[in-house]
Amino acid sequence: MIDVRSDTVTRPTPAMLAAMMAAQVGDDVYGEDENVNALQHAAATAFGMEAALFCPSGTMTNQIAIKLHTQPGDEVICDELAHTYLYEGGGIAFHSGASVRTLRGPGGRFTAEQVRDNVNRRDDSHLPWTRLVAVENTVNKGGGGCWDLAQLQRIRAVCDEQGLALHLDGARLYNALVARGETPAQYGAVFHTISICLSKGLGAPTGSLLLGSREHIARAHRLRKLMGGGMRQAGYLAAAGLYALNHHVARLSEDHAKARQVAAELPALPYVKDVLPVETNILIFHLDDGVQPDRYLRYLQARGVRAGTMGKQTIRFVFHLDVGADQVGELIGAIRQFH
Ligand SMILES: Cc1ncc(COP(=O)(O)O)c(C=O)c1O
Repeated sequence: MIDVRSDTVTRPTPAMLAAMMAAQVGDDVYGEDENVNALQHAAATAFGMEAALFCPSGTMTNQIAIKLHTQPGDEVICDELAHTYLYEGGGIAFHSGASVRTLRGPGGRFTAEQVRDNVNRRDDSHLPWTRLVAVENTVNKGGGGCWDLAQLQRIRAVCDEQGLALHLDGARLYNALVARGETPAQYGAVFHTISICLSKGLGAPTGSLLLGSREHIARAHRLRKLMGGGMRQAGYLAAAGLYALNHHVARLSEDHAKARQVAAELPALPYVKDVLPVETNILIFHLDDGVQPDRYLRYLQARGVRAGTMGKQTIRFVFHLDVGADQVGELIGAIRQFH
């Protein structure tokens, strides 16, 4: 099967598996796993941040970060497409007791001016205190689009002016860095905390990193324990993460090229209403109103393609290292022949 439901479906390559098998492990709850320590150190160094914490999932790193920056009754500003808001089980309410002010920007990207306009006054006791701005890059539901670094820097300036924290859900940040020719350190300089996922396009089986100041990460360590995320011989997973950071970053551009190649076919297909601009490995398009998404997905499945929906009439293909060049050709053959 050609599985483009998500870039989370990848399996470790033989070389990644070999790196996992060779890992020397220890008990990470005691801080004794060499690979976990090396992974955390490598990531913190690359981003120019003081410390990092290895966690089981991106949901956990995001939710820990939100809890670090807020108190119950505070408010978080994010885009209406944000994963932290839509797809983390209501975790902002559950873990942090915070309310959310959603903004609407093209492709999930709002402006510094919108942030400034939506910060609540602190001298009015009716209002929740705005405490945190959360940004997502790339924006999953926005079709994998990338933020302009300059806009993020302007948002940071508003955060500094208003006394707000700034968190990045960088589940696919490396896709953005590769697409835009930017560096981790440029992002480390803008955000108070950053979550990056090793289990998406980077191809590790599981695991995410939260990056921040020494103080933030010390508190995050305690919150990870509280959420049941303290892992023991996690070095096997950390070894996969280290392998991913060392070998799977530059190749993300190949996934972006696959997404562009398939996207180029879509405007000519009679059943496609429109296509979101493609910048990275995510391709989102809308079906004409007369086409039932379930029928389309069943057709694709019968042609050996597993894809998913993302809202009304919305189809998402996500490209990753387990989709080969031949399979891109087969996928194109399948979508051309649907009627
Ligand atoms: C943008 C974004 N943030 C966070 C996550 C959560 O990651 P996890 O599935 O590891 O919890 C995802 C998952 O797909 C995501 O797309």
